Amino acid sequence: MELNEVLRFADEKVFSTTGKHLDDLQEAILKEVLQGRKYATRVAQDRDCSEGYVRVAASELWKILSDVFGEEVSKVNVRAILERAKFYTNFSPTIGSENVTVNNNLNVCQERARSPTEAQNPQQTPTQLHIDLGDSPEIFTFFDRTSELSTLENWITQDRTRLIALLGISGIGKTTLSLALIDRIKTQFDYVIYRSLRFSPTLDATLTNLLQIFSQQSEISQNIETKIAQILDYLRKNRCLIVLDDVQMLLGSGQLAGQYKTGYEDYQLFFKLIAEVCHQSCLILNSWEKPREIARLSKYHHPVRCLVLGSLGEAAKEILNSQKLSDEETWSTLIDIYQGNPLWLEFTATLIRELFGGRVSEFLHCEMPILDEGLQSQLSQPFGRLTPAELAVMVHLANQPEPLAVSQIFNKIQFSPSEIVNAVRSLGNRFLLDAVEREKITLFSLNPVLKQYVKTQYLSNRSN
Ligand SMILES: Nc1ncnc2c1ncn2[C@@H]1O[C@H](COP(=O)(O)OP(=O)(O)OP(=O)(O)O)[C@@H](O)[C@H]1O
Ligand SMILES: [Mg+2]
Repeated sequence: MELNEVLRFADEKVFSTTGKHLDDLQEAILKEVLQGRKYATRVAQDRDCSEGYVRVAASELWKILSDVFGEEVSKVNVRAILERAKFYTNFSPTIGSENVTVNNNLNVCQERARSPTEAQNPQQTPTQLHIDLGDSPEIFTFFDRTSELSTLENWITQDRTRLIALLGISGIGKTTLSLALIDRIKTQFDYVIYRSLRFSPTLDATLTNLLQIFSQQSEISQNIETKIAQILDYLRKNRCLIVLDDVQMLLGSGQLAGQYKTGYEDYQLFFKLIAEVCHQSCLILNSWEKPREIARLSKYHHPVRCLVLGSLGEAAKEILNSQKLSDEETWSTLIDIYQGNPLWLEFTATLIRELFGGRVSEFLHCEMPILDEGLQSQLSQPFGRLTPAELAVMVHLANQPEPLAVSQIFNKIQFSPSEIVNAVRSLGNRFLLDAVEREKITLFSLNPVLKQYVKTQYLSNRSN
């Protein structure tokens, strides 16, 4: 959209609400920001005034625009908000009245939504479907997860959820499930994109990568704010399903769960904008650690949801079957011990096949659980991130025969009650604790695999 066009639109909206036009200084600030430039120095130089003065004027301008557009406007989102508002102003008269609430409050999402029935109808396949799954793993077998697939599909197609976090401990099947979901609902979208963040790309690199898919040959801006605005624009104009996998790689180590590493904090703002700004697309984030803003946003914002993946249940027997294990009557016990975690069961099934002739009952006669080396190295990743207080809680719980309330850990380890409470909550956000409710008290414990891992890694010297 042309710069002057956006400026004129902003001025008209401000005038129609306040009865005053934007003054020269406000217009100059807006012009610089809309071009993605650092406005303060340039405007101050042009007008021979201090940068502080310009900043104060800018903050008043964002307040005025926030009142006019009914949502918080700042230099980061002003372009996206103005373009969106202008888009809907132009667009509204052509939208079928059955799909639209005529409403001047631009906070209300007025995109030309495909109705759920339309979305589910395969006849309505968009004219051109762009699929770019990048380096996603090929899925050879996929068992069950029927209810999870239906839940995700409903959130996306019926509820128009804009941001979904698919969470759960490593190996539980997040990548596999998201790819199965893509396969199931891809025809309802214009763009379907999968990217893994396993090498911790910066936000700038991820945005550039997405824009290359959307814009093909057109030029990509160097400015990150413009890139965000452009992405939001694509998400508004097209129905897109984007899966960003391995989001935990953006999160830090040695600090409580869900905090971004230095240099990656801007992802937080990007995800927040995806949740808050009105568009017709869905972003799925896969992670074995719950990012902070997801925990917060999912409490207050309807278009944000979390799905925590648990055991594969009975369907995990297919994994044992595919490894040609015997003693089928004992398989449920094996699945329970290994938490129905497909990856943990794959490691263990291979071990049983190679060293126990495939006989599950013979394996179960050993002291349980036995942890394959691959499984241990898998677990070393989340454990490597724990804070000293989190590790102390895990070690304490690993030594307990029964689940404990948080208060029962106080004074048992060398950390203050606040540190213990925060550590327990953080461990929950890493999916490393089991919680049960008994007589209105929450009790915490470790599952057998994690208990064994902690004993092997952190307590073996003491027990010798
Ligand atoms: N529903 C399923 N049916 C069959 N196999 C599955 C299923 N879910 C997961 N698996 C298998 O379990 C293994 C781990 O799955 P996946 O990589 O999807 O886990 P993840 O949660 O993404 O792990 P991470 O957090 O480490 O990336 C893979 O080998 C996958 O093939
Ligand atoms: Mg994965």
